[in-house]
Amino acid sequence: MRFDESFQLPLQHRVIFSAALLDPTNGVLRDVLAGSGSRRAIAFIDAGVEKANPQGARALQSWFSAQASAGHTLPDLCSVDIVSGGEAAKNDSVIVDQVIAATERHAIDRRSYVIAIGGGAMLDAVGLGTTLAHRGVRLVRIPTTTLAMDDAAMGVKNGINRFGKKNYVGAFAVPWAVLCDETYLTTLDSRDFRAGFSEAVKIACLRDPALLTQIERDAARIAARDIRTSMPTIVRCAQLHLEHITRGGDPFELREARPLDFGHWSAHKLESMTGFTLPHGEAVAIGIALDCAYARHVGLLAQGEAARVSACLRALHLPTWHPLLDDIDALLLGLEEFREHLGGRLTITQLTAIGSPMDVHEMDVDAIRAAVRSLAP
Ligand SMILES: NC(=O)c1ccc[n+]([C@@H]2O[C@H](COP(=O)([O-])OP(=O)(O)OC[C@H]3O[C@@H](n4cnc5c(N)ncnc54)[C@H](O)[C@@H]3O)[C@@H](O)[C@H]2O)c1
Ligand SMILES: [Zn+2]
Repeated sequence: MRFDESFQLPLQHRVIFSAALLDPTNGVLRDVLAGSGSRRAIAFIDAGVEKANPQGARALQSWFSAQASAGHTLPDLCSVDIVSGGEAAKNDSVIVDQVIAATERHAIDRRSYVIAIGGGAMLDAVGLGTTLAHRGVRLVRIPTTTLAMDDAAMGVKNGINRFGKKNYVGAFAVPWAVLCDETYLTTLDSRDFRAGFSEAVKIACLRDPALLTQIERDAARIAARDIRTSMPTIVRCAQLHLEHITRGGDPFELREARPLDFGHWSAHKLESMTGFTLPHGEAVAIGIALDCAYARHVGLLAQGEAARVSACLRALHLPTWHPLLDDIDALLLGLEEFREHLGGRLTITQLTAIGSPMDVHEMDVDAIRAAVRSLAP
């Protein structure tokens, strides 16, 4: 006897951009938490957000109190824990264990909520905890960095680093909701603010030439942290990532190709080579510049197009070089790790023109060396 049944899951990916989420008059979070028969919620806040931001733990508690005073029925906010932010949040399983322990302590069931407020790294770690407790509790992500808003929080991936390898342990899960509030961005460090735009350059190169033109036009104001100018690029980038997940046909990455990981084979390796001190967004900027230079060397991409992408990254004050690129042997291990992650053939996305990606299944080591040399200052 044999039964081979195909089936589909009815999934919904809910993403809302709304300024001043924790203003007592803002009902977006209320709508997301209402009407599910749940009585409980717990929250985790990135220590970087808590330190810098008036919208930290106190604001969340006040918002819940204000809703109750106004007669709205919402789950009880049982706890708000501050957890480490930055890549350190992903370099061990402390936060994952903390989330699981808090779900047990506060009787968080599968209809209860975990609210995570923070950068991409913290969201990845808290998210992993929520996929494991009860095999999955509802996660409301509130991203607080440019990169988390335009990319990380849109993803259906959660994970932590192990064995010095990025995202080695993780799980796919669609969050209950993703709520983006630009107010958080005002307290971001300039380096972290700019880092998120490498993912925007990435997806513009792959999918949206008009977005690249927009970023080039606005680069100086984005680099100067002008939020009004930056938001349209963040929103468009988020939308393109979301569309890829919901309409791209492979949300859980079952196929060989990972098209949105353009520039990431070297980026992930560089992050690991620097002991995770190089921020992901900066590593991606270097990775994009390297792959564009490589594509030019092997004749896939015109010289002018490769130079255009690098110039755009530099206009955003993003790096296109790192001294550890010179350690080519170590860097090349990134290719093997990339292949190992998905299995099957090595599949790397390269550009043949802005807006025209192409999968390649091998990379020429001499051309990688030449590309690295061409980027050196
Ligand atoms: N799951 C996915 O699909 C996905 C996609 C892309 C990237 N990522 C991951 O996201 C991570 C990078 O995220 P990131 O760029 O947001 O950096 P990050 O999470 O490392 O945060 C950078 C720093 O900013 C601080 N911070 C966060 N919000 C703040 C605020 N509003 N004000 C002041 N400080 C604040 C943090 O504490 C941290 O020190 C990487 O680990 C990357 O692998 C995941
Ligand atoms: Zn990335």
